[in-house]
Amino acid sequence: MVCPALLLQSFIWFSLMSTGVQYEVSHIVSSMCVVRQSTVLIPCKYDGYGFGKQVSSAEWLHEKAAKQKLSVSQDSAFAGRVEFMTDSGNCSLVLRDVRVSDAGIFSFMLTDDSGHNWTNTQGVRLEVTDVEVEVKTQSDVVMEGDWIFFSCGSCIPSMTVPTYTWRKDGHLHSQHYGNNMLDVESVMLEDGGLYLCIISGHEGLNSTQVNITVRPGGPPKSVSVSVSGSAVIVSGDSVTLSCSSDSNPPAVNFTWLKETQSSAVGSGQSFSALDSGRYYCEAENKYGSQRSESVSVTNKDEESSSSWIMFTAGITAAAFVASVILIVSIWLLIRRKRVTRSEEKNHRGRCKTVESSEDPYMTLDPKSRCSEYDTLDNIKRSWVNADSPEDEDSAYYNIKE
Ligand SMILES: *[C@@H]1O[C@H](CO)[C@@H](O)[C@H](O)[C@H]1NC(C)=O
Ligand SMILES: *[C@@H]1O[C@H](CO)[C@@H](O)[C@H](O)[C@H]1NC(C)=O
Ligand SMILES: *[C@@H]1O[C@H](CO)[C@@H](O)[C@H](O)[C@H]1NC(C)=O
Ligand SMILES: *[C@@H]1O[C@H](CO)[C@@H](O)[C@H](O)[C@H]1NC(C)=O
Ligand SMILES: *[C@@H]1O[C@H](CO)[C@@H](O)[C@H](O)[C@H]1NC(C)=O
Repeated sequence: MVCPALLLQSFIWFSLMSTGVQYEVSHIVSSMCVVRQSTVLIPCKYDGYGFGKQVSSAEWLHEKAAKQKLSVSQDSAFAGRVEFMTDSGNCSLVLRDVRVSDAGIFSFMLTDDSGHNWTNTQGVRLEVTDVEVEVKTQSDVVMEGDWIFFSCGSCIPSMTVPTYTWRKDGHLHSQHYGNNMLDVESVMLEDGGLYLCIISGHEGLNSTQVNITVRPGGPPKSVSVSVSGSAVIVSGDSVTLSCSSDSNPPAVNFTWLKETQSSAVGSGQSFSALDSGRYYCEAENKYGSQRSESVSVTNKDEESSSSWIMFTAGITAAAFVASVILIVSIWLLIRRKRVTRSEEKNHRGRCKTVESSEDPYMTLDPKSRCSEYDTLDNIKRSWVNADSPEDEDSAYYNIKE
């Protein structure tokens, strides 16, 4: 029986025998950044394994566009600017006076005497940066309180980490080691001016100047209060309110006020409301202040106790009204009984008794009634007289016509 491992080993050995020397090309790095006009060394080494075939030729290829590889020795664009050796496994490429058009993928390729090519498929991606100031701002018009983001060049050189020097209006502004960015988080009026950058080791290449104009801001705008969660205080907890505004420059002071209270109840961008009421905030910067609409905070405990008070008050009031009605009714009933009895005495003989009337229609005649009915009749008449009789008549005529 043949061992599979032994089979594999024999296969590798036979492969090596048939292909001769195996070469391995490595570049240490996969990408590099270089400053325009500088000199770059693209590292490269190769190792040969096995025996037999020898290197017949070596070449550096430049791939500018995909699948378009050109030998640097044959490309006139690189004439006089490239240099490399192939002995002792050092295949590093020296490229002088780098141009922006040099950007692309560089790879080393060996050809052995049997015509087989050996290369590193990944190669080294070369990025070329100019010393240029790029500016990113919040908006086209830089306003007080906006942010500005400057960058010096498109990438940071890989050969030696440089120091970036920023100059504003001809004076030193700041220096940053290994960082090509300059962040101005909240721009002030005095931040306006002419900016340029210098990369250490490349002092001969000053960047172009960028003119920044900062427009003055104004008092806070769109001040509003937001409530985190619900605006209801539950069992002694507080409600967190926060104040926001759209301000240039940003609001520095936040004051919390409560309707019905003349003095401030708090400060800071957020506030914990412990009592119910209507709250609002006031945002202030150096140009002035603006207040928000108020928000209502309620207290669940207060609410339930107040509704209990209301309920009790309601019950009490209802009971009181009911007892008053009862007392009055009883009093009226007693009084009526008394009156009826005395009336019976007083009016006997004075009233024409209805029962005595033979004609039932006589009951309709007021004269057949008691003096009390006469009084009512008089009141009724005076009411009619009080109304203007002419009007009544004309109204009557109008209806008739
Ligand atoms: C490889 O060669 C370059 C010049 O072609 C030289 O600058 C570099 O130091 C060499 N590297 C080594 C490790 O010898
Ligand atoms: C090796 O590369 C050269 C140059 O690019 C090419 O002409 C040749 O056909 C390649 N050989 C093989 C075996 O791929
Ligand atoms: C670059 O700027 C520095 C400082 O502003 C100045 O001293 C230097 O002469 C300038 N170099 C060039 C080439 O303009
Ligand atoms: C920068 O811009 C402002 C406003 O656009 C202008 O007044 C000023 O003269 C400019 N400065 C330079 C040096 O160009
Ligand atoms: C912010 O409040 C402090 C203290 O009340 C005050 O001294 C300062 O002037 C205020 N700032 C602005 C811009 O109003």
